Amino acid sequence: MKFRFSILLLSILLAVSVAVSVAEPTPSAAYNRVLFPDRRCQRAMSENSTRLGASPAAAECEVWSEACSEAVLKVALQSETAEWLRGIRRKIHANPELAFEEIETSRLVREELDLMEVNYRYPLAKTGIRAWIGTGGPPFVAIRADMDALPIQEAVEWEHRSKVAGKMHACGHDAHVAMLLGAAKILKTREHLLKDMKCEMIGKLNLEGGCDVGTVILIFQPAEEAGNGAKRMMQDGALEDVEAIFAAHVSHEHPTGIIGSRPGPLLAGCGFFRAVIRGKKGFAADPHRSVDPVLAASASVISLQGIVSRESNPLDSQVVSVTSFNGGNNLDMIPDTVVLGGTFRAFSNTSFYQLLERIEQVIVEQASVYRCWAEVDFFEKEYTIYPPTVNDERMYEHVKKKNFRVVPPMMGAEDFSFYSEVVPSAFFYIGIRNETLGSTHTGHSPYFMIDEDVLPIGAATHATIAERYLIEHD
Ligand SMILES: *[C@@H]1O[C@H](CO)[C@@H](O)[C@H](O)[C@H]1NC(C)=O
Ligand SMILES: *[C@@H]1O[C@H](CO)[C@@H](O)[C@H](O)[C@H]1NC(C)=O
Ligand SMILES: *[C@@H]1O[C@H](CO)[C@@H](O)[C@H](O)[C@H]1NC(C)=O
Ligand SMILES: [Zn+2]
Ligand SMILES: [Zn+2]
Repeated sequence: MKFRFSILLLSILLAVSVAVSVAEPTPSAAYNRVLFPDRRCQRAMSENSTRLGASPAAAECEVWSEACSEAVLKVALQSETAEWLRGIRRKIHANPELAFEEIETSRLVREELDLMEVNYRYPLAKTGIRAWIGTGGPPFVAIRADMDALPIQEAVEWEHRSKVAGKMHACGHDAHVAMLLGAAKILKTREHLLKDMKCEMIGKLNLEGGCDVGTVILIFQPAEEAGNGAKRMMQDGALEDVEAIFAAHVSHEHPTGIIGSRPGPLLAGCGFFRAVIRGKKGFAADPHRSVDPVLAASASVISLQGIVSRESNPLDSQVVSVTSFNGGNNLDMIPDTVVLGGTFRAFSNTSFYQLLERIEQVIVEQASVYRCWAEVDFFEKEYTIYPPTVNDERMYEHVKKKNFRVVPPMMGAEDFSFYSEVVPSAFFYIGIRNETLGSTHTGHSPYFMIDEDVLPIGAATHATIAERYLIEHD
């Protein structure tokens, strides 16, 4: 996630539910609150409730129920699974790799998938992987993890801190990879349930008298932080046949294991601009012999502030920030050029592209008022334009469970938005906040750390969302 947790306004909203979570601190309790079923049935369970206890993985979930959630979580919380998840996350954490350089991370993922005998396609987008579990046929539902680290020097002193100077998993993508591998492991133990169920309720009898539930696609994506791995993954077929996609991001705003999301726009569209304003160099003492780009650029900065305040609907949140202003190095000379740059955010595609258009117009026109010439670059070629991340209402309802926490939209951005433009999707947060451990720092902080108890819960949440999607599919 980019530049996101720094400006959060969530504290008020969170205060109430924090009290709730303190009363039930165990991962299991948090998980139950989140994934408590909203559908009845479970005939297999009620006919013979001892079966679940005897063999949780084999619980037959014809219709998703609490027992199915429990069965999934039990697999995740087995001590060897939890230990394995921690091991994977720590290995990735100690060896962070930046965007499109996730060679070892990707290798580790493939080795684990090989051990589980999970099939996959590789490479997509250089280091990306598309794995699948289930029948291999429709419907297809995808869950996604990002793999890249950040150019940040880790400041946390612990045994598994980054071994690479200047690189760190400061956004939790190491945990995302571990959780998705965990989901693969869980789903693999339940693959027979996806392949052959006695489920006339789903109404898709196959030749053996069972029914094909469908296929879960696991997407391991490079370069979320930079370079737009999502777009490249899609170009390489990551979303082929996929009809819905889900992804989680760890969040220090929520207690460990708590899920948060919202319907509609969740994260802003994000763009950057850089304008070069050209005048004519000259002695500062003879301003009439030069054309001053400093004045033109200053006027542009002031006018840019008018776009959001005067032209956009105050109920439709938008931001234009000028973050860089450079020109001249001689106190006695008016410089040739001034370069200014910044970022803009909006929650709808329309508002986002209106901002883009107006930023260009305002700079070019203001420059011309002062006899200068301006050119504005939005880095479209470098893929630094991210659309807003918009949760589909139905997919949001699918993720949202009892005691689920609705969160406000944030001005941060995510390249998950590229998937969400193409298929119905939901993006959600999963809490990692634990005051005792000190996992309270924002993403992209050199002090960022997670509560590793989130790993089995996250793995179970991913697996549950995907499997339940297929079972409830009609
Ligand atoms: C926080 O972490 C500590 C140490 O692992 C653990 O004992 C405690 O239960 C955790 N608290 C919550 C609220 O998860
Ligand atoms: C329930 O499971 C127990 C133990 O596996 C078995 O002995 C019993 O016959 C089962 N009952 C039904 C109704 O399936
Ligand atoms: C957003 O707007 C741009 C430019 O008008 C367009 O190319 C793109 O397809 C739009 N995306 C969506 C999801 O409407
Ligand atoms: Zn990030
Ligand atoms: Zn991130």
